[in-house]
Amino acid sequence: MEIHNFANIKDVEAELEKNGHLEAFSELMVHYECAMLEVKTKLDVLNTELSLHSDHNPFESIKSRLKKPISIYEKLNRLGLEFTPENIEKTLNDVAGIRVICSFPNDIYYLAECIAKQDDIKIIQKKDYISNPKPNGYRSLHLIVEIPIFLMQEKKNMRVELQFRTIAMDFWATLEHKMKYKKNIKNPESIQDELYYCAELISQLDGRMQQIRTKIEKEDEEEECE
Ligand code: GTP
Ligand code: MG
Repeated sequence: MEIHNFANIKDVEAELEKNGHLEAFSELMVHYECAMLEVKTKLDVLNTELSLHSDHNPFESIKSRLKKPISIYEKLNRLGLEFTPENIEKTLNDVAGIRVICSFPNDIYYLAECIAKQDDIKIIQKKDYISNPKPNGYRSLHLIVEIPIFLMQEKKNMRVELQFRTIAMDFWATLEHKMKYKKNIKNPESIQDELYYCAELISQLDGRMQQIRTKIEKEDEEEECE
């Protein structure tokens, strides 16, 4: 397989065009976009329903993104695979990605459970980096889900990557991500150590904030019973 260093989207498109894959690729990206919309709507519905029973929303915000064509190309290339729509669909789980940012750790598990229970959703993979943090301190709950989309002529199952994390975990992951891509850092080990230490502090903070909320909720319930 030829290896290219694509400078921009036009080069990627030209490569797809040359191999007659451009139309199928564009179609596939629209299908991922539709799948992302389906999952996002499910989360919005849960948020709306749950806000009826409680005085807080289970998530603060949702971010969604489609993997850039250049990143898709590079990932397939790393796997030694040709840049074709078939290989994308067969191999990649993270073309469509949704990040759900919650205030409290319990909300993460509750939301993930609600999503997993829905009968049109299939959980393909679950990675709990909250119970089992990565060695660098990274914490989040990752799910790969499969969801049907209903097109004009067919029903098609698409995979979407879901990442659940707290506001504090997201703050950490954003900074850690920036560090990874920074070259010329003078003392990377000491920064990694500090990041690890901060991840531990964040985990303690999230735990304590959760305890406070649980206490407040209990008191509210007791008041209602009186
Ligand atoms: P990728 O090939 O990168 O998608 O990794 P993977 O297939 O091993 O999946 P994993 O579930 O471990 O990670 C998927 C995504 O989670 C990444 O693309 C990042 O967005 C995020 N992630 C995982 N590990 C880290 C980390 O150490 N730091 C940060 N900032 N993000 C991470
Ligand atoms: Mg990824």
